[in-house]
Amino acid sequence: MLDLLILGYNGRMKKIGILTRDCAGVNAAIRAAVRTAVAAGLEVSGVLRGYSGLVDGDFVPLDRRSVSGIINMGGTVLKTSRCELFLTAEGQARAVASLRSHGLEGLIVIGGNGSLAGAHVLASVHGVPTVGVPATIDNDVGGVDLAIGADTSANVALDALDKIRDTATSLERIFVVEVMGRDCGYLAMQVALAGGCEEVLLPERVLDAAAMSREIQEGHARGKKSWIVIVAEGKARAQDVAGVIHRRTGLETRIAVLGHIQRGGRPTAFDRILAARLGHAAVEALAGGQSDVCVHFKGGRTELLPLGTAGQAKACDVSHDYHLLKLLA
Ligand code: F6P
Repeated sequence: MLDLLILGYNGRMKKIGILTRDCAGVNAAIRAAVRTAVAAGLEVSGVLRGYSGLVDGDFVPLDRRSVSGIINMGGTVLKTSRCELFLTAEGQARAVASLRSHGLEGLIVIGGNGSLAGAHVLASVHGVPTVGVPATIDNDVGGVDLAIGADTSANVALDALDKIRDTATSLERIFVVEVMGRDCGYLAMQVALAGGCEEVLLPERVLDAAAMSREIQEGHARGKKSWIVIVAEGKARAQDVAGVIHRRTGLETRIAVLGHIQRGGRPTAFDRILAARLGHAAVEALAGGQSDVCVHFKGGRTELLPLGTAGQAKACDVSHDYHLLKLLA
């Protein structure tokens, strides 16, 4: 049975670490990686607080029991943080020394392109066997169709948006809703399309404020009184967009900034299953002797791509979905 689960396991590696960033589905990925590793006879340590814990040598043993009951939890049970020190040669040397002194022969890094860029440095510069797992609400990991967490955050934002629509419709108001996504319009596009919104402002598209305001005014004249405009945080602030609409149309507007609620919440079934597949595939790749690669799901199967690619932000193609949204609005 193990041969089936751990396809290329060479039996040489004895102990691995897992380091994480946070978003829904990360805990499910930790669980899958730990249980796959334990089934293959590997010892596993969790790295506490992301790269800060790696630099400081802050590890916790993980076994089958320690990951029970976390599959449905948001965030990361390992905690996480930003670590400026890891960007320096000194920080990286300390991280490598921590791994060695703790007997960790390989590392799985679960996170967005920043975390995966760090993983690429560990693998390519310091020779640490490292495999990445894409997990970010921004869904901007280079070469990856869908990262763990993106589906849950779209659903969390959509739930909030549906509630805002109740008020927008009842009071016949214009709402400008700001969603996360860093410099990528993926999350904003998803939320706008699924929420049946009238407009979405994306980093990938030039904003024609005059045309948008004219459309709102013409709609208003026809009797369409409520309007929801989604703004990707990487494009503009909701406050500023609402100000522009008000100045150009004279119509009353309200704003909502969804913020960090989009990064939390119980992972959807989709994200849990993706996490199970990728957590398992990451251990399989690492134990099978792969390094400097990122696992991802494409065309119905798990595949590997270079960590150097995954460590970069991808360009998000939103043009088809944008035109679909405008056709259906
Ligand atoms: O990368 C995930 C993300 O939530 C982005 O969408 C957002 O821009 C950023 O992180 C917020 O970072 P912080 O929690 O450090 O403010």
